[in-house]
Amino acid sequence: MSDDTGGPAEPRPARPAAQQPDWPDRESLRAVTGWLGTAPPLVFAAECDRLRARLAAVARGEAVLLHGGDRAESFAQTGVETIHATLRTLLQMAVVLTHAAALPVVKVGRMAGQYAEPCPPPVERRGAVELPAHRGDAVNGAEFTAGARRPDPARLRRAYEASAMTLNLVRALTTGGFADLRQVHAWNSGFVAGSRAGERYEALAEEIGRSLAFMQACGVDTRELGTAEFFVGHEGLLLDYEEPLTRSDPATGRSYATSGHLLRLGERTADPDGAHVGYLARIANPVAVELGPTAAPDTVLGLIDRLDPEREPGRLTFLVRAGAERVGDVLPPLVEKVTAEGALACWVSDPMRGTTPLAPNAAPSGRRTGRPDAALEEVRGFVEVHRALGTHPGGIHVELSGAGATACDGGEVRAADRDRRDDGTAPDPRLTHAQALDLAFQLAELYR
Ligand code: TRP
Repeated sequence: MSDDTGGPAEPRPARPAAQQPDWPDRESLRAVTGWLGTAPPLVFAAECDRLRARLAAVARGEAVLLHGGDRAESFAQTGVETIHATLRTLLQMAVVLTHAAALPVVKVGRMAGQYAEPCPPPVERRGAVELPAHRGDAVNGAEFTAGARRPDPARLRRAYEASAMTLNLVRALTTGGFADLRQVHAWNSGFVAGSRAGERYEALAEEIGRSLAFMQACGVDTRELGTAEFFVGHEGLLLDYEEPLTRSDPATGRSYATSGHLLRLGERTADPDGAHVGYLARIANPVAVELGPTAAPDTVLGLIDRLDPEREPGRLTFLVRAGAERVGDVLPPLVEKVTAEGALACWVSDPMRGTTPLAPNAAPSGRRTGRPDAALEEVRGFVEVHRALGTHPGGIHVELSGAGATACDGGEVRAADRDRRDDGTAPDPRLTHAQALDLAFQLAELYR
């Protein structure tokens, strides 16, 4: 293996790093980053290059990207069930999309590294008590105590270990038989009853099963069906985690983040002169860039110049989170400018974070409100913009709840799945299994 022999690449230049925890124990931080600097890579350069090539196909309109997973991972959820549930939801969505679009679906889990979040309010208040906010398990604990909320660098090591455990399961499940297309039925088990999307899926699985049997009977080599190609990605937020896990590939001299295949640049750290952009500019992994409703074409051009000066196909993926009402206005100038700049980038709809609520507000379970759903509206608007411009609607990024995946709720996409946080505030909505599948079916219709 040529990839893991290089040491950590040179230290980052001094640029302002937004959203970094103020680790109180510098000594222990040094120990942990030293440890991470010698830890085995979680992913390899050649895998990252392969993903870049797949994303280049998406950018050319020859494939579709499905990127999804839990909004945030936690150390408590490295169990088989959570990962299993997320994975099978993604595989089912991928099958639905492959079938409709008749294009390969590039599958990237928002997994194995999603342990930190940028945090607008730095403190959380409960009654008279004020404590630092929970910033993800890689930084501090969720419990509302001063001890738990203190940033602890040892958590960076635990984030690495949890990622390694997750990735190990993901690799085993996607290559060890579970993701075999002849298992299309099995992925749905437990989900059919009461779910419209589940029933629709059953019918599709039936059809695919027959086609596979036919191909097999004709003597077609069906080995490609046995394993699923699957990548992982997360927001590259904590530079004290990403930097020491960066390795240079001795074969090419290029540096790679070895914490995941696809690294994401968050809206809050997207300053073109900031430390995050500086870091991502140095690595060769494909990079996903979040674009909110106020993203200006010139800002995007600035990011392209920093992150993709060579205009490498598949290097950049734009996650568009404009909101259902604004996507039609916000997106066209962005796409036009990026195309004019010569960047061969993927355009992906990220319909979970728009300015509008995900869906008609929390209808009591099972009752349809009849209002069009905002997430789907946003995806539809996104696809329409691309159709009008003659560009490719590359795919979708979804946040879905692996844990809640057993909830059958009639299959409609809505925001019933708002778990309460410890502090009683609702996090951003995530799709349940049935909602995610339903969205895949509706998106599939747009791709036909
Ligand atoms: N190997 C192909 C792929 O990874 C086909 C495939 C196998 C597949 N299992 C799958 C596609 C599960 C989607 C879901 O794309």
